[in-house]
Amino acid sequence: PRPILLTRHGQSQDNVRGRIGGDTVISDTGEIYAKKLANFVEKRLKNERAASIWTSTLQRTILTANPIVGFPKIQWRALDEINAGVCDGMSYEEIKKNMPDEYESRKKDKLRYRYPRGESYLDVIQRLEPVIIELERQRAPVVVVSHQAVLRALYAYFADRPLKEIPHIEMPLHTIIEIQMGVTGVQEKRYKLMD
Ligand code: G3H
Repeated sequence: PRPILLTRHGQSQDNVRGRIGGDTVISDTGEIYAKKLANFVEKRLKNERAASIWTSTLQRTILTANPIVGFPKIQWRALDEINAGVCDGMSYEEIKKNMPDEYESRKKDKLRYRYPRGESYLDVIQRLEPVIIELERQRAPVVVVSHQAVLRALYAYFADRPLKEIPHIEMPLHTIIEIQMGVTGVQEKRYKLMD
């Protein structure tokens, strides 16, 4: 059985500043993760000639995949982070202070809450459908370098987790989740490469 490796991008400058959305580059810490990830992938997929690396169209995932050599890379817009609409670039504290109603609505129903002029988790789940179809079709391993909200949804699909849990699934930085689909069901391993 072929593995699917899921990982968030390395720490971004917006992660450091506590801001959501945006399209910043990765931090020095993020760069270190990118190198560790490349090392891991090159060892783990050594004889997997048909493997591929999928990223979003945002800089932080493309830069995280950059040190990985020897595999084709594909950019998917459908792997971009949840669109925070008018809240893009804000911190959660700023949203709470300046848009308290939005903050409360999201807290009440994070799955269905749609950012003004942006997306909800349900929207993200829907736009991931073509990615999931293509992942299911692949016979070779795939490394998916994406974002927190998107990976929660992808992971939930493979791990068969209920819809309502999706926005709350733990999806730490600098950790690879390896999923293997076999006859006995889905096996999962986690590799925390750094803090
Ligand atoms: O920028 C978006 C975050 O990665 C998504 O996290 O849905 O828990 O706010 P959240």
